[in-house]
Amino acid sequence: MNICFIGTGYVGLVSGVLFSDLGNNVYCVDKDSEKIKNLEQGIIPIYEPGLEEIVIRNFEAGRVKFTSDINQAIRSSDVVFIAVGTPSSKDGSSADLTGVFNVANIISKNLNSYKIIITKSTVPLGTGDKIEAILLKSNNRKKFDVVSNPEFLREGEAIRDFRYPDRVVIGTNNSKKVTPIMEKLYAPIINKGAKFLIVKRRAAELIKYAANAFLATKITFINEIANLCEQTGINVEDIALGIGTDTRIGSRFLRAGPAYGGSCFPKDTKALTRTASNHKVHLQLVNAVIKSNESRSSLITSKIIKILKKPKKKIVGFLGVTFKANTDDMRDSSSLKIIPALIKKGCVVNYYDPTGNKTNFDAYKSVHFYKNANEVIKNSDLLVIHTEWDEFKNMNFDKITKNKNLKIFDLRNLYEDKYFSNKKIKYYSIGRPFNV
Ligand code: UGA
Repeated sequence: MNICFIGTGYVGLVSGVLFSDLGNNVYCVDKDSEKIKNLEQGIIPIYEPGLEEIVIRNFEAGRVKFTSDINQAIRSSDVVFIAVGTPSSKDGSSADLTGVFNVANIISKNLNSYKIIITKSTVPLGTGDKIEAILLKSNNRKKFDVVSNPEFLREGEAIRDFRYPDRVVIGTNNSKKVTPIMEKLYAPIINKGAKFLIVKRRAAELIKYAANAFLATKITFINEIANLCEQTGINVEDIALGIGTDTRIGSRFLRAGPAYGGSCFPKDTKALTRTASNHKVHLQLVNAVIKSNESRSSLITSKIIKILKKPKKKIVGFLGVTFKANTDDMRDSSSLKIIPALIKKGCVVNYYDPTGNKTNFDAYKSVHFYKNANEVIKNSDLLVIHTEWDEFKNMNFDKITKNKNLKIFDLRNLYEDKYFSNKKIKYYSIGRPFNV
């Protein structure tokens, strides 16, 4: 099939290249010509394990083309995915759709044959209707269908999530015509066991927000239970196991930790509550989740201060600063709140991140990037394990540092208490007895 992805950000690049890997001819379009030139040379603008090899392989086979010629790409395609960014609007509570509507206008001028126009970006309820209205201004209905096909890819796990999703959701108001085409496009994935769900277009748009809000709720729930566990001498992992093995609840996304972050959960939960209030519905639960998560970083900071006792001039080492492992993404990472708060208290922060130095901390004189974890550990009074990279999971702290007074605060529970039981190092974690 001939398809094009407009926007080579995270969603567009990963999905576009992986569709080419399934044998389709794919145009990946971006107005940033520098980015296009780089992609043609195999230089990938995002950090996603395994992606580079797939980009190069499919580019060399001629199945994926990188281009800034949006008109030609649309005209050559049967299916056009809109995958441009939908950042939070200025007030931070809804999505800015300027990019999506600009693309819709360009598509409307290039409908040289019947095309399916798909929103892949996360777009608020009713965006498909607005895109349809733009296209109808200069075309008749027979030339296109607007479909919502939300993505459920996690950063760092995107390749696996694309190839083996639990479900493919297609939102269309013209299922008779659209379903067979979408079924053909997704056949290699459906044949491996993914459920293929056809719903109305607005339902698909809402599914995406509801899914992210539900996952954010699950995480927030276990984080709050973790707070209770710390005060009652219970291990939160026992609770996660005890409730997660009930298939009605499910075991995934029950890892207690720092506040959830990234480019999706914080933005999408807020956009969902805004959509609801536009329809005069108050989503009390989702609002509470947002509030609880927003206060979590100061709760973690106060625990760090408690461990340090006198924070002034203490050296706090951070292992990982991104919002989770296997990504270089700093968006809404809890480190962006915790580190400045520690600096305010007079701490010095040294950090190591497998994806390198982060410009986010350039403004702070007391924040230093180190090129390896050992150097950070050696120089720390307190070590904060902030992200769950594999390389942090099996460290021999005794060998790395001579500091017998080292304290560790493991925000991802990578270690067990018993691992430190006959060592001098004081170990603290999340949702386990917290005695300072
Ligand atoms: C999330 C969803 O998981 C994807 O399905 C969705 O496609 C994507 O948003 C999106 O809307 O584009 P992502 O933000 O990449 O994916 O990352 P997640 O793995 O979901 O993690 C989000 C946050 O939750 C991270 O801060 C992570 O550390 C935290 N988390 C996750 C926990 O604290 N505990 C868990 O058990 C799971």
